[in-house]
Amino acid sequence: QKALTVLGLESSCDDTAAAVLRRAPDGSVTVLAERVLGQDAAHAPYGGVVPEIAARAHAERMDGLAAEVLAEAGLSAHELDGVAATAGPGLIGGVMAALMTAKGLALGAGIALVAVNHLEGHALSPRLTRKLDFPYLLLLVSGGHTQLVIVEGVGAMTRLGSTIDDAAGEAFDKTAKIMGLGFPGGPAVERAARAARNPERFDLPRMLTGKPGCDFSFAGLKTAARRAWDALEAPGDQDRADLAGAVQSAIASHLSERTGRAMDRFIEAFPQASRTLVAAGGVAANQTVRAALTEAAQARGFELIAPPLKYCTDNAAMIALAGAERLALGLVDGLDAPARARWPL
Ligand code: KG4
Ligand code: ZN
Repeated sequence: QKALTVLGLESSCDDTAAAVLRRAPDGSVTVLAERVLGQDAAHAPYGGVVPEIAARAHAERMDGLAAEVLAEAGLSAHELDGVAATAGPGLIGGVMAALMTAKGLALGAGIALVAVNHLEGHALSPRLTRKLDFPYLLLLVSGGHTQLVIVEGVGAMTRLGSTIDDAAGEAFDKTAKIMGLGFPGGPAVERAARAARNPERFDLPRMLTGKPGCDFSFAGLKTAARRAWDALEAPGDQDRADLAGAVQSAIASHLSERTGRAMDRFIEAFPQASRTLVAAGGVAANQTVRAALTEAAQARGFELIAPPLKYCTDNAAMIALAGAERLALGLVDGLDAPARARWPL
């Protein structure tokens, strides 16, 4: 086997990203260049990601960004072994931006195209910065996804649970909006919650507690938070801080309770494997969430690892990595590979 150099492209949500990565024959990887362009300011007035605005921004920026990272890596397209793009799941107009650019490059430069599942990219992301043996348990918690997955290898993932309504990040974003906190809501809620004095005065539901399975649900929490907020007369900063604290601990305890169940399932399925829980996605940056997960992990002898923040959130290095791993296994896609809004692992 030879070293593989792959360009990765990502545009499935609200980040436009490109990266060039080299995978050595022993499987070690080096990121040669990487760029991420966010769109928070464009979506902030709406309190959430607006698909049409996202798609336009991706379409405007994707080609230029791909050229930039190639220049930074000192490579031209025909020196690549392949180009990998997120082909789903995600907002379809955005997904098409990266996939079209990738198809154009693959055709023009005569290199392989790899259509990557965005979730596989997240699942492999901890391997960008450290050696990590399969299998491991992944908790993916972002604005778009909330999933528990056993990662057994490239193309071999078992989903244990996912959200039946909102994503964990959405729960933060939507409750932040109710309280008049900014977007993205997660960091705003975390900041506001630092001033909480009496969050217990809000009685928020503990979702699905004791219910079997590893699925998540956040809609009831959002409704309860809205009701609690609307019941306040002339709410002020202290009310906001207390409710933010209550929401944050409800989300953290829900995530850790469900993840605890998944860890138990992992141990049953792989009694001999080393016990590793990877927490990825923007919500994994939350300190209260991390503390709750650490406690649940320690109780079961799991080590909790989180990729560095830039690989926790949407990025193209993880797409390039998934592409390189697939290429190394001889898995390539045709130029007719479809963009897919839904694409479960
Ligand atoms: O992984 P990410 O950047 O990908 C998506 O675009 O989905 O995740 C963004 C989400 C947002 O919902 C944001 O509110 C949430 O992650 N988030 C946080 C924190 N930082 C970002 N949630 C809670 N606490 C944080 N510190
Ligand atoms: Zn993502």
